[in-house]
Amino acid sequence: MEYIDLRSDTVTQPTDDMRKAMMNAAVGDDVYGDDPTVLELERFTAELLGKEAALFVPSGTFGNQLVLFTHCPRGSEVILGEDCHIVQHEVGAASVIAGVQLRTVPSEKGLLDANRIKERIRPDGDIHFPKTSLICVENAHSNGRVIPLEEMQKIYEVAQQHGIPVHLDGARIFNAAVYLGVEAKEIAAYADSVMLCLSKGLCAPVGSLVVGTADWIEAARKKRKLMGGGLRQVGVLAAAGLIALQTMRLRLQEDHQNAQLLADQLADIEGLTVYKDDVHISMVFFSLDQEGDPLSQPLLARGIKINPPELGMYRMVTHHWVSQDDVLKTAQAVREILA
Ligand SMILES: Cc1ncc(COP(=O)(O)O)c(C=O)c1O
Repeated sequence: MEYIDLRSDTVTQPTDDMRKAMMNAAVGDDVYGDDPTVLELERFTAELLGKEAALFVPSGTFGNQLVLFTHCPRGSEVILGEDCHIVQHEVGAASVIAGVQLRTVPSEKGLLDANRIKERIRPDGDIHFPKTSLICVENAHSNGRVIPLEEMQKIYEVAQQHGIPVHLDGARIFNAAVYLGVEAKEIAAYADSVMLCLSKGLCAPVGSLVVGTADWIEAARKKRKLMGGGLRQVGVLAAAGLIALQTMRLRLQEDHQNAQLLADQLADIEGLTVYKDDVHISMVFFSLDQEGDPLSQPLLARGIKINPPELGMYRMVTHHWVSQDDVLKTAQAVREILA
C-alpha cells in the first residue's frame, strides 16, 4: 500500500536523481580528506551559509552534540531554550559527551528573550560558578515556528558583548529562510556555528553538516573522529546531499503552501482547532474537542500515517512526497472520521 505519510519531514525518501547520483558518486577516503564529493558538499555548504568551512556528520543530533563538544570545556554551562531539541530530544547527550550543564531560559513558542539570556550569563570571579561557554538558538524551531532575524540579532549582540559564541540549530534553516524571504546566510550571520540537516524536508537519506570558522571546523573534525563519526567512502551520501542543497532547497515553498492549504481545510472541520498562526513552515498543529486519539488508527486504515497526539496536540508535516491532492484527501478523511 502507498501511504500518505505526514508523521514528519524525516520520512522523506531520496529522489530518483539522488539515487542515480549516489550510484555514480566519485568517492575517496574522507578520513584521509580525499573524498571529492564530500569536499564539494562541504565547500558548497560553507558558501551557502556564508562561513569559512563545513563538516559532514551522520545526523543532526551528532552535529549538535559535536558542536557542544567542540565549543565547550567540560563542566561549563550552555544557555538555551527550555523546549529546544538539544534539551528535549537528544537523550541528555550533552551531559555524556561534552559533559556540560544545560541552563534553560523560558521559551515563548521558541522565541528566547535576550534579556533573560543576559541574566543567566555567569560573571567571572565567583568560585562557585561554572563558566558560560555557549548560547544556543533554534531556527526554524521544531515547533514549526520561525524566529525573526531581529530577535536573533539581539541574542547575538548580548553574546558578543560577553565574548560567548552562539550556536544555531538550523536543522530546518532553509525552511526558515523561505518563510523570512532571506538567504540562509542572513540567518547564519547571527551565529558562530550552525548545524543543518539534509535528511528532513530536503530528502537526502542521511546526513547533516556543521559550519563555522576554518580553525573551529578543524577542531570539530578531530572530535568527530573521537565520536566515531569519521566515515570513509561517504561521497555516496554526500552526492545525495548536494542534490538536497542545490535542488530540493529551492522547492520548500511548495511544502509550506501545502501546509497552509491543509491548515485551511482542517479549520473548516467542527470539533477541531487548528493553530493557524503557528503554520510558518511545513508543520500543522491542531487539537480536538474530544480527548484521546480518535484519529491515528482510523487514518492508518485509510492509508494515511500520522503520530498520536503529544500533550493533546496532533502534528501533520508536509514534504516532497505529499502532494496537494494528498492534502485534500487527508482533510476529507479527517472530516469523515470526526463526523
Ligand atoms: C530542530 C532539530 N534539531 C536537531 C534534530 C536532530 O536531527 P537527527 O534526527 O538527524 O538527529 C532535529 C530532528 O528532528 C530537529 O528537529
